[in-house]
Amino acid sequence: MSGLEITGLSKSFGGVCALDDVSVAFPHGKINALIGPNGSGKTTFFNCVTGMIRADSGRITYRGQDLTGRPPHRIARAGIGRSFQLCRVFPRMTVLDNLLCAVQPRTLRAKAGRSHSRAETERARHWLTRMGIDHLERAEAQNLSWGQQKLLELAGVLMSEPETILLDEPAGGVNPALIDRICALVSELNAEGRTFLVVEHNMDLVMSLSHHIVVFDRGWPIAEGPPSAIRSDEKVLGAYLGV
Ligand SMILES: Nc1ncnc2c1ncn2[C@@H]1O[C@H](COP(=O)(O)OP(=O)(O)OP(=O)(O)O)[C@@H](O)[C@H]1O
Ligand SMILES: [Mg+2]
Repeated sequence: MSGLEITGLSKSFGGVCALDDVSVAFPHGKINALIGPNGSGKTTFFNCVTGMIRADSGRITYRGQDLTGRPPHRIARAGIGRSFQLCRVFPRMTVLDNLLCAVQPRTLRAKAGRSHSRAETERARHWLTRMGIDHLERAEAQNLSWGQQKLLELAGVLMSEPETILLDEPAGGVNPALIDRICALVSELNAEGRTFLVVEHNMDLVMSLSHHIVVFDRGWPIAEGPPSAIRSDEKVLGAYLGV
């Protein structure tokens, strides 16, 4: 089934070409991975797809809907959620309030938590339980470990019930036990019908988790296919080893 389809996407920053006429498609219903060396354009790709930065050219469609040039909230409404490479949580708010803010950012000014419905609070608790951090709901987010903050951010993404989730380095800097939990969650959420696009440098994770992998090198897709094909692709080995 057609999912996210990108055609001719380009983005330069001054003289740096971060994305160079990229055309790729990510099948719906799968765990897709986007890998590549540092600076190969992965985060820029996420930023363009989610409307956080405007591409210089190219077309973005999602399940047949043209999302090119749409602002972030329209892309979110189309069913695409994302996490950030450098986790975005509100450090001095409680874990629970972080999630309630994820559904109603306006409440930031209006004493977070007070104006939320019981249903929203229950939903927030549901996701905290799924992430295994429900016991921390009253803790300030800044007191969570990095991995727990990543789980909190993922719970925040899930609050808006996206059908497709873009994760930028979910395992980066996370301890091995929590990496296992993040992997298990991604698999479970995928089995429940959610599509993933995961940027990650942890190759064991990528190879064990993904159904389909796209490899970027210098702003350009150099290979795509299942893990078995990517693992032995000479262009991919060359890009990583710099030969
Ligand atoms: N806002 C920006 N201003 C200037 N240059 C930028 C900006 N964002 C990205 N770049 C440049 O674009 C290129 C691609 O960067 P990007 O962050 O997309 O890479 P990445 O594949 O996510 O790397 P990493 O694996 O290190 O996170 C790099 O050369 C980077 O320096
Ligand atoms: Mg990045």
